[in-house]
Amino acid sequence: MVKITIIGYGNVAQHLIHAFQQQSDVVIEQVYSRNYEDGNRIDSSLNFTSNWDDLVPTDLFIIAVSDDAIAEVSLHFPLKNQLVVHTSGSVSLEQISNHNRRGVFYPLQTFTKGKNVDFSQIPICIETEFSADLEILKKLAQVISEKTHIINSQQRRALHVAAVYVNNFVNHLYQIGNEICIENQIPFSILQSLIKETASKIETLSPVEAQTGPAKRNDQQTIESHLDFLEPNKMQRNIYKLLTESIQSNGKEL
Ligand SMILES: NC(=O)c1ccc[n+]([C@@H]2O[C@H](COP(=O)([O-])OP(=O)(O)OC[C@H]3O[C@@H](n4cnc5c(N)ncnc54)[C@H](OP(=O)(O)O)[C@@H]3O)[C@@H](O)[C@H]2O)c1
Repeated sequence: MVKITIIGYGNVAQHLIHAFQQQSDVVIEQVYSRNYEDGNRIDSSLNFTSNWDDLVPTDLFIIAVSDDAIAEVSLHFPLKNQLVVHTSGSVSLEQISNHNRRGVFYPLQTFTKGKNVDFSQIPICIETEFSADLEILKKLAQVISEKTHIINSQQRRALHVAAVYVNNFVNHLYQIGNEICIENQIPFSILQSLIKETASKIETLSPVEAQTGPAKRNDQQTIESHLDFLEPNKMQRNIYKLLTESIQSNGKEL
């Protein structure tokens, strides 16, 4: 049995709470939220507080607030020598006040309000300041996920950069594709099976092996024709040109 308190009631906090509530091995003792009385956010099965002084010692405190607020929130945290972790991919463990035993519990997934996720398939990246605390984080991660990884702060920073490339940047490229479709009266849905196949291929092939297209084939006339097409939109044209050069150099520095 692991007893935890969650600090913050945003996207990640609510997804974690939902996942832990399904598990009999985890008890959510308290939830700290500065604005929990706002709107319809209260879940009556949880013990909410917006008063730091109400917090009582427990096995683990999870700070799931915005990256920029982690240090500030950890300074407000009134207890000492507790195991306190944050959930960020990019913030170092040192941002948590050293009055407590520090750690990280980073679920490597993109969370959207109202969209359920299958936690069992989400990698949980854990790190602790003291090795004795690793067991608690491992136990908690393994209760909700089949994929636990011990990742230090430096590795986590690199992982977060990689995640921005494969998630946020790829999604932005979908947005550009969508804009081009709209401008030319084509339904974006026509690209869905291509998107699915591209994502599923890299389950068995490396990204370099899976790459196709004019840049990979070095079809110079096609590339020039695409650049001509993109002439009116400098941003899209620059992105196309840079990605083409990156593919042709196989990702090495240009
Ligand atoms: N979203 C993702 O896909 C994702 C994935 C993995 C990890 N993470 C990490 O998880 C953490 C939380 O992200 P999120 O997406 O859940 O953010 P979010 O939905 O924007 O929620 C942020 C939470 O932080 C609280 N907060 C912000 N500033 C605060 C302050 N000064 N004092 C007290 N509470 C404060 C907010 O309270 P109010 O509601 O009162 O404003 C809200 O509960 C971040 O470190 C993020 O990097 C996010």
